[in-house]
Amino acid sequence: MTLWDKRPDMIVHKADPYNAEPPPSGLDGQELTPVASFYSRNHGEIPTLDPDEWRLQVGGLVDSPLELSLDQLRDRYEAKSLVATLQCAGNRRAGLVEVRDIPGEDPWGVGATSTAEWAGVSLADVLASAGARSDAAHVAFEAADVSALAEPTQPYGGSIPAHKARSPEVLLAWGMNGEPLTRVHGAPLRVVVPGYIGARSVKWVQRITARAQPSDNYFQATAYRLLPAEFNPATAGPGDGLSLASIALNAAILRPLDNQQVPQGAIRVSGYALAGDDRAVARLDVSVDAGRSWRQAALAPALHPWSWQQWHIDVDLRPGPAEIVARAWDSTGAAQPESAGPLWNPKGYVNNSWARVRVTVAH
Ligand code: MTE
Repeated sequence: MTLWDKRPDMIVHKADPYNAEPPPSGLDGQELTPVASFYSRNHGEIPTLDPDEWRLQVGGLVDSPLELSLDQLRDRYEAKSLVATLQCAGNRRAGLVEVRDIPGEDPWGVGATSTAEWAGVSLADVLASAGARSDAAHVAFEAADVSALAEPTQPYGGSIPAHKARSPEVLLAWGMNGEPLTRVHGAPLRVVVPGYIGARSVKWVQRITARAQPSDNYFQATAYRLLPAEFNPATAGPGDGLSLASIALNAAILRPLDNQQVPQGAIRVSGYALAGDDRAVARLDVSVDAGRSWRQAALAPALHPWSWQQWHIDVDLRPGPAEIVARAWDSTGAAQPESAGPLWNPKGYVNNSWARVRVTVAH
């Protein structure tokens, strides 16, 4: 038996709470990530919730607070599904750790990003039926898992601005890739906020609150914030740094692997790119000489506006060491930054520097 029915070769950063990502090969060439390969990021013990007992409370700045069972959610609202990529803000932290150590945070690789087809109902429909008021500028989510990593210990939570909460892509999901949502991914119900950092896609959600201000939950007010490089994270408090919401343009090389030995001649280089929010990836360039010269890779169309784009290119490699680099542009014309150094921050978020792998090409 593998932990949480994941593939046996998951890279497990921690068994408890379970934090694991697939090896790059588990994401390569697949538009949808199988549930067994999908990364999992947890801050507390995975709760066991009885779906018959479970209720969703909807309250705060609403005219008619609601308490809904799973059946009522299914019966009262139109079923929706969409393909969306989740990406953790700590994706590619390993590249920042190479710049300077980041104590207390796991060195995630490129696998804290995965894509699934999510099924559920639209958060906007639920908010509308509760009569969310116009002074509700934010919508907060509170979950059933309790995290001792928070200061003080508290249930996991977070919030999104009302304009995003009212957008049709934000789901309250009970299904993943055509199957019921599994326990580790948030059953019976999770929030899916496409285009935002994974932290806002709150699992095991049981309370939704319309508010004038963002959530004061630790994971919104204190964690998942981009602190200035010189800041001591141990002294960070609510409101310090920049609150992370929309995903930054990013790309990863999934094949070949870093430090891999490859044969000389033609090899395929492939990966994913993701623009985040309402942007698209417009172009992806690959260099096999550490960024001196570039060629454009073939970029597959996104399955859905909220999903990543897979890319590939066949290149010719000469014997010896080679550094393969990939960089993306988004539909606003913005490009990824060249190196991780200037991006370093004390919690190790948003490493969206050019993707790099070093390979040795056999003689
Ligand atoms: N929701 C709860 N209740 N508890 C958590 O620890 N982790 C968040 C988010 N939702 C978390 C949560 C983070 S940081 C990420 S990146 C995503 O869940 C990961 O979702 P996954 O584990 O389904 O891949």
